[in-house]
Amino acid sequence: MKTKHPVAASLFFLSLFVMMFVPGLIAQENTSPSAHIALTPPMGWNSWNKFACNVSEDMIRSMADAVVKSGMKDAGYQYVNIDDCWQVSRDANANIVVDPQRFPHGMKAVGDYIHSLGLKFGVYSDAGSKTCAGRPGGLGHEYQDAIQYAAWGVDYLKYDWCSTTTQDARASYANIRAALDASGRAIVLSICEWGTAKPWLWGKEVGGNLWRSTGDITDKWTGATKWPDGSCCSTGMLSIVDQQVGLASYAGPGHWNDPDMLEVGNGGMTDTEYRSHFSLWAILAAPLIAGNDLRDMRPEIHDILTDKEVIAVDQDSLGREGERVRKNGDAEVWAKQLKDGSRAVVLLNRGSAEQEISASWEDLGYPDHLSASVRDLWQHKDLGKFTAKFSAPVVSHGVVMITVKP
Ligand code: GLA
Repeated sequence: MKTKHPVAASLFFLSLFVMMFVPGLIAQENTSPSAHIALTPPMGWNSWNKFACNVSEDMIRSMADAVVKSGMKDAGYQYVNIDDCWQVSRDANANIVVDPQRFPHGMKAVGDYIHSLGLKFGVYSDAGSKTCAGRPGGLGHEYQDAIQYAAWGVDYLKYDWCSTTTQDARASYANIRAALDASGRAIVLSICEWGTAKPWLWGKEVGGNLWRSTGDITDKWTGATKWPDGSCCSTGMLSIVDQQVGLASYAGPGHWNDPDMLEVGNGGMTDTEYRSHFSLWAILAAPLIAGNDLRDMRPEIHDILTDKEVIAVDQDSLGREGERVRKNGDAEVWAKQLKDGSRAVVLLNRGSAEQEISASWEDLGYPDHLSASVRDLWQHKDLGKFTAKFSAPVVSHGVVMITVKP
């Protein structure tokens, strides 16, 4: 009788081991508590654009109420995020100290209130030694702070990049993600590094759910505004949009380019311009973080922020970021592929006079002869079937936003 060759036997067991365990090791399951969050761009409200450092418990509670009463919650807005200036110091044990005058009941009470309304709670800190408003930052306290945030019920952390001197951006954000995960709570990580170290190249890998792709937005149509100290600059809405060109491939479910928070309703642009701002953010699959006072919105502003058809473009589950597919001087066409194969399209007129703008099927990636149904999203109206292209007059600084469905 033949005896089994010992080498052959060990090779057999080795290959069995390789087949059983190595694929598991290679395709390691992401066990982070934050692995499956922000699968569509986060929607919510943040205090900075309107209130800057003027934050308080009363204001945040009344804003959370307004998210519900205004219909914003029903439209999909979830997060109520406190930006800079809620923190004043660290105590003898290096725990972060909340401003006792402005937040007399502490942060857990604020978080509990926000949660009681069915909303989610966000806070802000900074990867460096100080926040941009000079409050204590997170550097060296990442794990301690993360445990504290989790105990408060924080669902979203915006992490800024001031006072970081020679820190490596990628390593700093990987560190705070590891700290947040170690807390055991699923927390959205909003990387606010202003695009300096091209976070779109590494933001997803370090577990960032969104990353700012530019410096700060300012509430105007275009151009730039100097900072109070004379340094340069926060930038207008269109300048921010121009900086998104070429970034679309980096976005997807769970990880988004962030062209900064909305200025809709803050008073520096016309309603037409705000409609363009909101349409462009939707076509870019940008986080929709409102930054105005929701307690006294004009109906026009309310109708922009809660337009269900435009929001549906932003929130489409395919998670594609739209792109500029044509630019003829002041006339631009932006298009975004949707889950059902249709396209959302923005015809944007940057110029000072009304003009006719066309989106050709070729620009949308469709054959010329295709007959497709066009719907106007702001008018909530089907416009009929079109072949080869769709054209419409677009007012100065305005958009026409449509879906094109073969
Ligand atoms: C930076 C950020 C802003 C805001 C402020 C707060 O400028 O980019 O979005 O958070 O800091 O100080």
